[in-house]
Amino acid sequence: MRRCLEAQRVARSGVPNPTYYVRMASQVRTYRDIDGWFGWTDHALFRGILDRQRDSPAGDLVEIGAFKGKSAVVIGDYLRPDEQFVVVDTFGDPDLLGIADADAEPTKGRNYFTRLTRGQFEENYLSIHDSLPTVVQALSIDVVNHVAPGSARFIHVDGSHQYEDVAEDCRSVKQLLRGDGVVVFDDWRKPDCPGVAAAIWDSALHDGLIPVALSSQKLYGVHGDPDPLMAAVREVLAAHPQRLRLKEIDLFGRTVLSVADTKRGRKPQPSVPRDRSTASTGPGSVRLRRVLADNAATSAVARWARSRRA
Ligand SMILES: C[S@@+](CC[C@H](N)C(=O)[O-])C[C@H]1O[C@@H](n2cnc3c(N)ncnc32)[C@H](O)[C@@H]1O
Repeated sequence: MRRCLEAQRVARSGVPNPTYYVRMASQVRTYRDIDGWFGWTDHALFRGILDRQRDSPAGDLVEIGAFKGKSAVVIGDYLRPDEQFVVVDTFGDPDLLGIADADAEPTKGRNYFTRLTRGQFEENYLSIHDSLPTVVQALSIDVVNHVAPGSARFIHVDGSHQYEDVAEDCRSVKQLLRGDGVVVFDDWRKPDCPGVAAAIWDSALHDGLIPVALSSQKLYGVHGDPDPLMAAVREVLAAHPQRLRLKEIDLFGRTVLSVADTKRGRKPQPSVPRDRSTASTGPGSVRLRRVLADNAATSAVARWARSRRA
């Protein structure tokens, strides 16, 4: 019950608060305990987009590449009784990944995740939700056998980093997405996986994908009307004016919303020399010298203020 209340509170406020109340029987106790790559901005955008779809007709939710469930548990919050949530992942199966044979040459730059197990995903998911989604342990190309054409309202593509696989994912997305459906691609601009970017832009230039919004990690798009997605993204930006910054960009004759997280860009704190004195507060330590210097400055200011009052 507390978990439901929390989800409702988040849904109402639109603020992502990744603290869930979970069963104590599980080793995972909160959302934060789940490993993964799902940052604050994308968490906020997913919730904003899925919140906006609440009153739309039933449709399927899909995730390609779930890892340990960090993004899947958020998407799963929005599953309605008359819908299915299909999660496709190889979950480390060496046969699926083509590396079961000892002589197999791994493809350079491919993300294999060989230590991942389906059990890890399922345990995490059940820490947050009462039942599992439709879990398909397979290559992503199999997704079209589990979701009806034109039925998906939200697809998150976060699986392979190889051009050929992502190009196939793009074709599946086009087939599965319904008119007002939204697709989100991960890692659209990372230097160590150029195949992802190549496949996405191929799809945008030659196969009808319309990019609508960009975060530093994900590209949000549609194959139909871009306006509802654009409105949802603008709503999320309006809800977080202190944190999120918008830049509008013209691309292929359309507007793309570039969303920047102002906190990510913060300069790191100046580094302190890594010697033994850093950790110590004994005489001569860097920390102690800093405290003394700060105190001396504060005292000097106080003395100056007193002298002006006198
Ligand atoms: C970056 S992780 C997903 C992260 C997850 N969405 C999150 O937010 O934490 C990529 C996942 O894709 C899976 N994967 C890689 N190649 C795949 C393929 N060809 N088909 C299906 N899953 C694949 C991996 O097993 C891994 O779990």
